[in-house]
This record gives sequence, structure tokens and C-alpha cells, in this order.
Amino acid sequence: MDKVNRQWLLKARPRGMIGPEHFELVESALPRPDLAAGQVLVKTLMLGFDPAMRGWVMDEPSYLPPVPLGEPMRASGVGQVVASSNPTLPVGTLVQGLLNWQEYSVGDPNQPLAPVRPLPPGTGPGMALSIFGSTSLTAYFGLLDVGQPRPGETVLVSGAAGATGSVVAQIARLNGCRVVAIAGGTEKCQWLREACKIDTVIDYKREDLAARIAASCPRGVDVFFDNVGGTTLEAALANMADFGRIVLCGAISGYNDETPAPGPHNLMNVVTRRLRMQGFIVIDYLPRAAEAITALAAWVAAGELAWREDVQQGFENIPATLQRLFDGRNQGKQLLRLADPE
Ligand SMILES: NC(=O)c1ccc[n+]([C@@H]2O[C@H](COP(=O)([O-])OP(=O)(O)OC[C@H]3O[C@@H](n4cnc5c(N)ncnc54)[C@H](OP(=O)(O)O)[C@@H]3O)[C@@H](O)[C@H]2O)c1
Repeated sequence: MDKVNRQWLLKARPRGMIGPEHFELVESALPRPDLAAGQVLVKTLMLGFDPAMRGWVMDEPSYLPPVPLGEPMRASGVGQVVASSNPTLPVGTLVQGLLNWQEYSVGDPNQPLAPVRPLPPGTGPGMALSIFGSTSLTAYFGLLDVGQPRPGETVLVSGAAGATGSVVAQIARLNGCRVVAIAGGTEKCQWLREACKIDTVIDYKREDLAARIAASCPRGVDVFFDNVGGTTLEAALANMADFGRIVLCGAISGYNDETPAPGPHNLMNVVTRRLRMQGFIVIDYLPRAAEAITALAAWVAAGELAWREDVQQGFENIPATLQRLFDGRNQGKQLLRLADPE
């Protein structure tokens, strides 16, 4: 086992684009070897990256407390138990949880702030964080519970080539909906058509978004699943069907804005079209995670779900990897590999 624990600490709260300058790489002592009953020492193998991390570093009220300055950056990950005082998690067990930007952490399945749980059998680190990870649970519950699509309805998805959006688009297709997907760039649009079997794909970087939505959805949009916000939300609001539903999952286009962009100018369409707009946070659905995992596993086994893992390498590249989500370089779930299981 290594003698030091490398960590990326939050050094400053960003204004504008988040970057490596907001973090500091330090070498700390390994967490104490005398683990309390129930605790395990976990070596991080792989980290997952989420746009929400941009919000977690701000000192503002939210659904989770802000990451304190001088503390390791909060992040989900998969690791391996290297020392254990927990008979249910012996040395060698692969676990997932909030492992943070550090090589080692102490976890306890019964602690609310540092829970770790074993990976589903037969699942490796990449799959646990991607197709069976929180973005897929977000897609499943956000679309089906909040959006409530019916077969034959038109579902519009923004950020559709990403980890969340691509699973939304495919679950909508598997539920008999007509799917219109919005993504940036030729390669991502091609992947949505060919691998995800989505018929109508709009490249928002090259096309007139509002005009293309109007042309692609002549009877209006019944469910809009929004990952992007801003002008994308405005373009969708202009094209909703009566009694449509807008699922507010995220608004990544504004996460790094120094001053918030004005709200949609056409919000009155919610009234005239009798729409329902609802936000949600996946954490509220975690008690029902098994339901989503069962459905996702069946689709994966049947070859019905495509997904991509964008795996970067190296502890020193962690902060720069987070930036890939905000300039669209990530192709699928953004991950970073630190080590392989032993
Ligand atoms: N509510 C919840 O509980 C919950 C949980 C998980 C995620 N989310 C939200 O879901 C969304 C997607 O998250 P993810 O983890 O699946 O990431 P992702 O979609 O895999 O990656 C982010 C993507 O956002 C797009 N993007 C980045 N900046 C943009 C901009 N300025 N304008 C338009 N598009 C931009 C890029 O795609 P293009 O190259 O196509 O532009 C990028 O690849 C985020 O808004 C996130 O906050 C919400």
C-alpha cells in the first residue's frame, strides 16, 4: 500500500469557468489504520464526473452542503477495500460511494456522509459509474416519473449525446415514443442515430434550433427533457404541445456564467399551452434505485441500450477532466481511471 494519500483540495471558489487553478494537489498521510468497527479503507480505482460538481463548490444554499475550502473535492467513485473492520466488506471488495478526489478514503456503509456499498455482481468500475450509475438513474426516473411519456408521444431531449441524455432518449424510444434528440457536433449526432437508434437528431451547433424543433415536431413536443437550459429551453418552450411536460434536469449552459443569464422570455407559454414544468434531484429516488437498475440491466442484456465511457487517465489530470463536461469534449460518461482492481 502507498504511504501517502494524494488529494485534490478545493483552493478557491470559481467565478466563471472552473479549472485546475481552483484546486491544489497535496500529499497527506494515509487515513488511520485503526479503523472503527464497520469502517473500511478504500483505494480509489475510478472517479466519475458530474456537471453538478460546479454547483457543489459554490458557497450557496443547495441540495447538498458546499464543499468546504481546503477539503478534498466531492466526487463519486469506485474503489477497492484494502483494510476492513467490516465483515460484510472484506479486503478486496469493490465498492462505490462518495470517494472524493483522493487516492484513499475511509468509508462505512452505515454512515450517511461516507457510505460505501458493494458493486452489483458482475459489474466493473466503468459500468457501475456509467450505465448503472447516477446519470442513468436520473434518466430513468426523470423521464418516466417526472415526464410521464405515453407511447406515440413526441419526446425532445437536450444534451442528448451525454451520459444522462443518451439514456433518456433510448428509454423514450423503448417506451414507444417518437424521439427528437439535440446534441453538439457531427460525431455525437451520428452516434445518436447509429448506436442509439434515434431517428431525428438536431445538431444545435450547426442548425437553427427553434426552426428544426418546429419542423421535426409538427404536433408539438409532449415531453421536453432539458439538460441544457438557456436558449435551448426557450426554443423548446416555443414548440410545446398543449398539456406538455418539461422535465428540468439541469441547465449546463449557465453553470459557469459569472452573472446568471435572463430567464426564458416566453415563459408565458407555460400558461397558454397548460404545461407542467418540474425539476427533480436524483438523490430523492435512491431508495428506488433497484427498480431502475433491474430495468436498465434487462435492456443492456437485450442489447437495447448503447452507452459510452470516456475514460481519462492520471491523478494529476482530475481537475482538467472536469472541464471536458463544460466544453463538450466528453463522449459519454466522463470517467478517470486511477488504478485497476487487484
Ligand atoms: N437533476 C439531477 O438529479 C441530475 C443528475 C445528473 C445530471 N443532471 C444534469 O444532467 C445534465 C447532463 O449531465 P451529464 O452528467 O449526463 O453530463 P453529459 O451530458 O455527459 O456532459 C455534459 C454535456 O453538456 C453539453 N454542454 C456543455 N456545455 C454546454 C453549453 N454551454 N450549451 C449546451 N450544451 C452544453 C455537452 O454536450 P454537447 O457536446 O452536445 O454540447 C457536454 O457533453 C447536466 O445539466 C447535469 O447537471 C441532473
